[in-house]
Amino acid sequence: MNVFEAIKNRRSVRSFSDKAIPQNVLEKMKLALRYAPSACNFQPWRFVIVTDEKIKKALAHAANDQTWMAQAPVIVVACGFADQAYKKMGGYGSSVEIDLAIAVDHLTLAAVEEGLGTCWIGAFKEEEVKSVLSIPKTVKVVAMMPLGYPAGANLIRPIDESRRRPEAEIFTVNGFGK
Ligand SMILES: Cc1cc2nc3c(=O)[nH]c(=O)nc-3n(C[C@H](O)[C@H](O)[C@H](O)COP(=O)(O)O)c2cc1C
Repeated sequence: MNVFEAIKNRRSVRSFSDKAIPQNVLEKMKLALRYAPSACNFQPWRFVIVTDEKIKKALAHAANDQTWMAQAPVIVVACGFADQAYKKMGGYGSSVEIDLAIAVDHLTLAAVEEGLGTCWIGAFKEEEVKSVLSIPKTVKVVAMMPLGYPAGANLIRPIDESRRRPEAEIFTVNGFGK
C-alpha cells in the first residue's frame, strides 16, 4: 500500500473485533510513532500502551463514556512533556501538541496498511486519564487512540469526499483569501 492509499482509506473506526494484534504488527505501530518528526527532534513524548481490560474501561469512562473504545485490544495514550518541547513555535507557543499529533497521525496511517482501525480521541477528561494511569501533573495528555481490527470489513472504506470542505474553500494561492 502506498502512502496516498493509506491516507484515502483511513477512517475513524468505532467498533472492533476481539482479534489480538500480533506482536510484530504492534512493534511496527510503535516504530511509526517513534519515527515521527518533532520540532528540533526533541521527541517530547511518552506513549502508554494499554491492554488491560479494566484500565481500558476506565479510560473509556474518562473519555465521556465512549465505551466502544474498550473493545479495541490496545489503547494508545499519547502524553507530552511540555517542558521538553520546542517553546517558540511560530514565535508564540509550544510545539508539544503538534509533535504528538504528528506521531499519532503516523500511527493512524501505518495502521491502515495492517488492516487495523483507529480513532482519534480528543474528548476526555485529562485529570481522570492521569489518575487512571498515574501520569504526573506536569505531563500533558494530548490524545488517546484505540487500535484494533475493525468489527466489519465495511468499516474500512475510502474517505467520503462529500464530508470534506471543497478545495476552493480551503486553498488560496500567493496570499490568504485570494
Ligand atoms: C483531534 C481529534 C479529536 C477527535 N476526537 C474524537 C472523539 O473523542 N471521539 C470520536 O468518536 N471521534 C473523534 N475524532 C474523530 C473525528 O470525528 C473524525 O476524524 C472526523 O469525523 C472525520 O471522519 P474520518 O476520521 O472517518 O475521516 C477526533 C478527531 C480528531 C482529529
